[in-house]
Amino acid sequence: MERETMCIQAGYSPKNGESRMIPIIQSTTFKYDTSEDMGKLFDLEASGYFYTRLQNPTNDMVAAKLAALEGGTAGMLTSSGQAANFFSVFNIATCGDHIVSASTIYGGTYNLFNVTMRKMGIEFTFVDPDCSDEELEKAFRPNTKAVFGETIANPALVVFDIERFAKAAHAHGVPLIVDNTFATPINCRPIEWGADIVTHSTTKYLDGHDATVGGAIIDGGKFDWMAHADKFPGLTTPDESYHGITYAEKFGMGGAFITKCTAQLMRDFGSIQAPMNAFLLNLGIESLAVRVPRHCENAQKVAEYLSGHDKVAWVTYPGLPGDKYYERAQKYMPNGTCGVISFGLKGGRSAAEAFMKKLKVAMIATHVADAHTCILHPANSTHRQLSDEELIAGGVGPDLIRLSVGIENVNDIIADIEQALA
Ligand SMILES: Cc1ncc(COP(=O)(O)O)c(C=O)c1O
Repeated sequence: MERETMCIQAGYSPKNGESRMIPIIQSTTFKYDTSEDMGKLFDLEASGYFYTRLQNPTNDMVAAKLAALEGGTAGMLTSSGQAANFFSVFNIATCGDHIVSASTIYGGTYNLFNVTMRKMGIEFTFVDPDCSDEELEKAFRPNTKAVFGETIANPALVVFDIERFAKAAHAHGVPLIVDNTFATPINCRPIEWGADIVTHSTTKYLDGHDATVGGAIIDGGKFDWMAHADKFPGLTTPDESYHGITYAEKFGMGGAFITKCTAQLMRDFGSIQAPMNAFLLNLGIESLAVRVPRHCENAQKVAEYLSGHDKVAWVTYPGLPGDKYYERAQKYMPNGTCGVISFGLKGGRSAAEAFMKKLKVAMIATHVADAHTCILHPANSTHRQLSDEELIAGGVGPDLIRLSVGIENVNDIIADIEQALA
């Protein structure tokens, strides 16, 4: 199937007389005829459902659709993108381990890694995604367990060189994890470029309607855990909490990562997506292949308009010829990048504040990547505790405006910006 068809049909095939839409299995628990039947589930001897804290059929149908779209072998939904990124790393790294991560990742992920996961004893080295090969090489340690980056960084809009980072990770016997939230599998499939695990904040384009918070993890099924058994004991040695099964042996390269993540992390942390939200997410994904090109088309026109305006100091959008990441974007996502643009006004911080007060179509919101055009001035909201010097050091200058272009008529979006600039 092509991606447009997968968006509608993958993950669920109704049988004779069954509902065409995926059913919402709104149930905490599942009934069995005998204790032996249920026992087999607890031993991971049979697949099935017993408690929605770990797994739910509605979620699994949507996760299977996402796995198909990303070209992976298995997937799972989580309660948020934060949970997805946490699980993707914590499933293979523990106290005393180390991760190499691109420095230009979403601030929430940066904080999760740099503050919370450090408290759990996991070390992180953050590298500039455009660093030299020598600098990248130097970041690895004997206890490095994974490399992490975002296809298109939020909000820096840096396009990640997936192939290069995949090669470096594999040379050190570790997987590459890529957060593909901004590009979506419509514009880029990181697994095809060498990524091993893909994560999503499904809250963004996948849901697409500003309706549900959620996340997803997809395994590409290509990483050979057994070939690097000493690095990944959690996957390659027996799990006593499931009567001594070894995930990589029992579930193979295609299934080990997601099975372990479900059986251990979802069991213990319980960050499941509600089945009702999974249903709404599925509705969003059904129109993903139609919405994403429209977001990109609108953003391209808005970026071109902004870069020609005499009150605008600078525009960052990887779809603009001349942008630092234009060439790389052409390689990894030739059909479009995303709907998010960063720009600054000549009047700096105060001009940004005055401009945003006048907008009528673009709504001020701490969100990106949904159908409604929305806008944020980080220096005045998400980053307001930082001084101007700290903002500049963090790559989010005091004048930076983040605009997420929606799928309204682009003429209305541009007219709104025009009147506010005037
Ligand atoms: C690229 C990226 N990854 C992860 C997240 C976290 O996702 P969530 O807000 O769904 O927890 C976000 C949120 O903005 C994001 O932009």
